[in-house]
Order: sequence, then structure tokens, then C-alpha cells
Amino acid sequence: MFYKLAQKVMFQMDPELAHNVAIGSLKMTGNTPLNCFYRQQIAHTPVECMGITFPNPVGLAAGLDKDGESIDAFHAMGFGHVEVGTVTPRPQPGNDQPRLFRLKPAQGIINRMGFNNKGVDNLVRNLMAKKSDILVGVNIGKNKDTPVEQGKDDYLICMDKVYQHSAYIAVNISSPNTPGLRTLQYGELLDDLLSSIKAKQTELAAKYQKYVPVALKIAPDLTDEEIQSIADSLINNKFDAVIATNTTLNRDAVAGLLHAEETGGLSGKPLTELSTKVIKKLADCLQGQIPIIGVGGINSAADASAKFAAGASLVQIYSGFIYQGPQLVSEIVSAYRAK
Ligand SMILES: Cc1cc2nc3c(=O)[nH]c(=O)nc-3n(C[C@H](O)[C@H](O)[C@H](O)COP(=O)(O)O)c2cc1C
Repeated sequence: MFYKLAQKVMFQMDPELAHNVAIGSLKMTGNTPLNCFYRQQIAHTPVECMGITFPNPVGLAAGLDKDGESIDAFHAMGFGHVEVGTVTPRPQPGNDQPRLFRLKPAQGIINRMGFNNKGVDNLVRNLMAKKSDILVGVNIGKNKDTPVEQGKDDYLICMDKVYQHSAYIAVNISSPNTPGLRTLQYGELLDDLLSSIKAKQTELAAKYQKYVPVALKIAPDLTDEEIQSIADSLINNKFDAVIATNTTLNRDAVAGLLHAEETGGLSGKPLTELSTKVIKKLADCLQGQIPIIGVGGINSAADASAKFAAGASLVQIYSGFIYQGPQLVSEIVSAYRAK
């Protein structure tokens, strides 16, 4: 009820301004009685994934709270985990505005934000300042001006800094908005990146006497052969999970709509089927050896159920949260419990 009212106001505003107002308000209210406007009691529904017990299977997907400013507010909404980031070693402004578009008739979003974030040191400060004990995954990436061939170094720098403060680390090589980033999903570049990250994880686990799982986040725009090859690489390098999927470059589902031709990644309802297809194929290739975190176009409990049926252990939401509000978390958990 409150969300629908807030949404009416926000949808009158420019999307990025609305986003900033929302994150700012959640930051201010997350730890105060004012969080009663969005606080929810979610039934404890433990799910094991990556060796961690999550209190419920629904997480907030990366990109909404890039700098980890409002983590406690998302905890109050009942999310089982929050993935912050994508964060890069150095702060960067991202692409020029406008760079965020609502496709309301399709309940979709197109963004070309370009990893705007305040840098990894700022994120670590925010992680240390959070009050709640919610599980926080940190999604890491490379700076735009770091050449792709040296991209690996950026991931390793971020890992070093966030390791102690993360429940898990997500390696993002699937954003369409950083030139060349998606080339890291293929062949030798992928194997080299994954093996370096695994080696860094082993080193840090020994240093801190704490094992923090690493997950790879992939795009939906991959052929079956490419998915097979990524799955092989994940198994060979003993990765702990795969997050599928990021946004799509495909516009078939929104052809003709206002903003459909904007450059960037498309998310929300138009992505639902494509992302579920990738999860199914991944599940086929992985045969239960590595868990899948399903994300992409979850706009209802039924959409989430389809992701679980396809092989996901956990799910995450972003666009569905914008269109449906926090109630989507409780609806998904209730349906999960009823199954
Ligand atoms: C505005 C916006 C910004 C995003 N930023 C990131 C990001 O920084 N890192 C990332 O891994 N995914 C990012 N994503 C992708 C989401 O995490 C998610 O994978 C994708 O939107 C599909 O889920 P959805 O259909 O529920 O939105 C972003 C999505 C949106 C809409």
C-alpha cells in the first residue's frame, strides 16, 4: 500500500533521480522507527548455498545499492541477502546521463549506468558501518579505463579489500555497459581470470582463516556451447556458484516500445524467459556440482518458482522490486514454503 503510493510519486520523476531519492531515504530511515513504512516479517526459511545458510532464498540483485549505503533498510524489508556493487578499485562516474529508462508497458528497464560507484574503499567503510547482520555479497568489477587485458588486476585488488567483509564475492564479467568486459566470458581469458581468483581466494582464506565463496555472474546472451564452456571452466576452477543472469542486449520482447532502442542492458519482465532458459542449460551442464543463483525478470512468485524449477538454489530481484515493491519478497518466500 505504502509502496504503491511511493511508486506513483517516483514514477513521475526522472528514473535516476527517483533512484537516488529512494536510496537516500532508505539510508536515512534504515535504522529508525521510520522503517515501519517498509519493514516486513519474513518467515525463517533457511536455504543452504555455497556453504552458507541463508535465512530465506530471496536476495537483492547487484546494482541497486552499488555503494552499500542502505543495506540495513533492505534487511528490514526481509531480504535474505543483499548483493552490493558492482564496485571498482577506483571511484568512477559511469556513463553520461540519461542512462536509465523505464519501459513501463513491458515492466522492463534499460540501463547503461557503466559501473558508477564511489570505489571499493568507500564500500568497505559502509560495510563496516552497517548495523544489521544481513548476509552481504560484494559484486566486483573493473574500472572503465583499465584495459581488458589487465582487468584481472582490478578484480584481485577488489577481492583483497572486500574479502573480510563479504559473505560471498560475485565476479561480474557480464555487464554490457563496460566496453570489452563480456569478452572475459570466453576461452583463455576466462580460465586465466577464474584460476587467478581461485588462487587469491586460497591465499586470503589462509590469511584470514575464513573461507569466503566466489561466484561468477554471467550474461543471458550466450549460446549453448558458450554456456557449456563456462560451466566447464567453473568446475575446473572449483568456483562456488554461478549467478545467472545479468541484463540482455536482445530487444525482441520490447520491439516498438518507447526507449526500446536505447543502448544498454534490458531487465525485468522481458528478460524472464531468456534468463530461465540459461539457468536450465547451466543446470544441465553443472549436474548439481555448483549451485545456481537465479536472477532475471522475476516479477512474481510464479516467476521465482520457475527459476527454482529450472535449477536455481537462491533467487535475486531488481526490476521486479521496482515494479512490485518489497511485498514481492514475502510473496516469493510464501510460495517457496508452500511447495
Ligand atoms: C539500473 C540497473 C543497474 C544494474 N547494475 C548492476 C551492477 O552494477 N552489477 C551487476 O552485476 N548487475 C547489475 N544490474 C543487473 C541486475 O543485478 C540483474 O542481474 C538484472 O537486472 C536482471 O534482474 P531483474 O530482471 O530482476 O532486474 C543492474 C540492473 C539495473 C536495472
